[in-house]
Amino acid sequence: MRGYGIALAALLLSSEVLASVTVRKTDRGPTGYEVDFRYVNTTAKRVLIGGGMQPFTDQFHTTGTSYRFNGRYDPHDYKPGDFYVSNPSPQLPAEPAYKWPYEMTQSAEGVWTYTAPFPSGIYSFAYLVNCNYAPNCSIDTGHLVIDPDLPPFQNVPGDQVSSSFQVPFDARFQFSPELNTNFDYALDTPDPHLHRGTVQTANYTSPGSIHPAPDVHDFGIYLPAEYGRSPGNKSYPLLYLSHGAGGNGADWENLGRMSHILDNLIRLGHIPPTVVVTPSFYNLDASGGRFIYGNKSHSVPIPPADAVRQNFEKYLFPWVEAHYDVCRNASCRAFAGLSMGGVLAYEMFVNATDTFDYYGMFSPATNPPYVNASSVAETPALMRKGIMVAYGLYDFVFPQARALQEALDAVGIRYINRVTPFGAHYWNTWLDELWWFGVKVLWKDLPFGVETGRK
Ligand SMILES: *[C@@H]1O[C@H](CO)[C@@H](O)[C@H](O)[C@H]1NC(C)=O
Ligand SMILES: *[C@@H]1O[C@H](CO)[C@@H](O)[C@H](O)[C@H]1NC(C)=O
Ligand SMILES: *[C@@H]1O[C@H](CO)[C@@H](O)[C@H](O)[C@H]1NC(C)=O
Ligand SMILES: *[C@@H]1O[C@H](CO)[C@@H](O)[C@H](O)[C@H]1NC(C)=O
Ligand SMILES: *[C@@H]1O[C@H](CO)[C@@H](O)[C@H](O)[C@H]1NC(C)=O
Ligand SMILES: *[C@@H]1O[C@H](CO)[C@@H](O)[C@H](O)[C@H]1NC(C)=O
Ligand SMILES: *[C@@H]1O[C@H](CO)[C@@H](O)[C@H](O)[C@H]1NC(C)=O
Ligand SMILES: *[C@@H]1O[C@H](CO)[C@@H](O)[C@H](O)[C@H]1NC(C)=O
Repeated sequence: MRGYGIALAALLLSSEVLASVTVRKTDRGPTGYEVDFRYVNTTAKRVLIGGGMQPFTDQFHTTGTSYRFNGRYDPHDYKPGDFYVSNPSPQLPAEPAYKWPYEMTQSAEGVWTYTAPFPSGIYSFAYLVNCNYAPNCSIDTGHLVIDPDLPPFQNVPGDQVSSSFQVPFDARFQFSPELNTNFDYALDTPDPHLHRGTVQTANYTSPGSIHPAPDVHDFGIYLPAEYGRSPGNKSYPLLYLSHGAGGNGADWENLGRMSHILDNLIRLGHIPPTVVVTPSFYNLDASGGRFIYGNKSHSVPIPPADAVRQNFEKYLFPWVEAHYDVCRNASCRAFAGLSMGGVLAYEMFVNATDTFDYYGMFSPATNPPYVNASSVAETPALMRKGIMVAYGLYDFVFPQARALQEALDAVGIRYINRVTPFGAHYWNTWLDELWWFGVKVLWKDLPFGVETGRK
């Protein structure tokens, strides 16, 4: 009987725990932390880890002009100041010229493991089964398995194609005098009972939308810890935070730990408790065809920013105001977004000028025509907004973001600038930009001057 019980427990264990990721503090180099991946698949012949995992590089072996000569280091060879970047797949040679660092080994029948030291940061990952070239192993090739025991933040299954974990900073091993790569502002707040907000997904009525159901669209929402607990009906400042091309409203939480960053911004007094809505700009209507997350062989056009703006103005903004205790005027409303979401933020700046007083253009993939003297003469309010333009030093939109800044400079529109020193067009850059947007820009007194953000 007893033996049977143990066997059953083992059976339950093996059938229930198919995968695990353990972040272990080691108190030794090279980073002070190791991460153990364990994944059970009895039919697999080879398992790589991908889904956002990247090799590391450093600032002396990275350029924004050509990815061909960038250093690509295995995390076992970590040196302080190393960071991870996205290497677009065409630039990454196939094996045997380049060996993908994240390859699992079979430690027992069907049990696959991989252990490596990792530095501070948020990492997204998925298991790539029987697939030989990680950058090409996507959901559509049928070889990508999402960790069943660490599911992503998402509304409906298929909205995300990777899970994520975070590794803390350990200054003893990761401090670099040249570059700060400490992402601990995105860790869970140390006092959850006081400062941990809630994050969830929500559906709203959006006629014409084709996802997640006909005439229903969705978003992610962060409600600060005190929301619903304060006496009377307080209304909270409201930040809309958009994803970029190929993404959706679950990205900012699943890939960027938006809720932790907000908890910490509020906890440290950089901003008052704020509600954040992360909308989705695909599948608002059927015009471009259905967008399927992570499917590289099924591309749909990026919806034009002015069409997205008009749709949000008609359905999303009124719905959010009607269902949450959020503020009702521009002075406590902001719109920010990354990449094509930065284009959307710029669209809101130009064409929803009276709706928002704060705008964050993170790695914006903007193009001319930009605002000019006649637009400013027509809409003087463009001069009195709280703006951040931010991009990475190695970001492929660097020239576009600079051109946007030049256009703002030419008409005298002031903004806060952030060039992320380890930044490619990637999540570590956008975490950094959201953090500094909170510290330096959100809800600061208008108009901005040279002293704004220096306190
Ligand atoms: C094992 O890998 C195959 C792909 O070869 C996949 O279809 C299957 O879902 C995987 N099983 C588990 C338990 O992840
Ligand atoms: C990866 O995909 C690209 C685009 O489909 C293709 O050109 C390339 O040959 C693939 N590389 C490998 C190693 O399979
Ligand atoms: C990805 O798109 C291709 C081409 O449209 C389609 O055949 C395939 O079923 C899609 N895969 C997934 C997982 O949605
Ligand atoms: C939103 O609607 C979809 C489709 O009906 C459903 O699967 C999902 O659970 C809903 N999400 C929420 C948060 O209600
Ligand atoms: C708070 O709002 C609810 C519904 O919106 C209303 O019924 C209630 O009277 C309000 N309470 C106060 C104190 O204003
Ligand atoms: C905007 O709304 C906030 C919060 O409801 C309020 O404190 C503030 O006075 C309002 N400002 C204006 C200009 O109406
Ligand atoms: C703003 O609206 C105008 C007129 O509808 C449109 O031509 C333009 O593309 C929109 N966006 C920007 C950034 O100017
Ligand atoms: C300013 O921009 C508008 C819209 O793009 C354009 O029609 C106009 O010719 C520009 N004016 C000047 C003075 O460049």
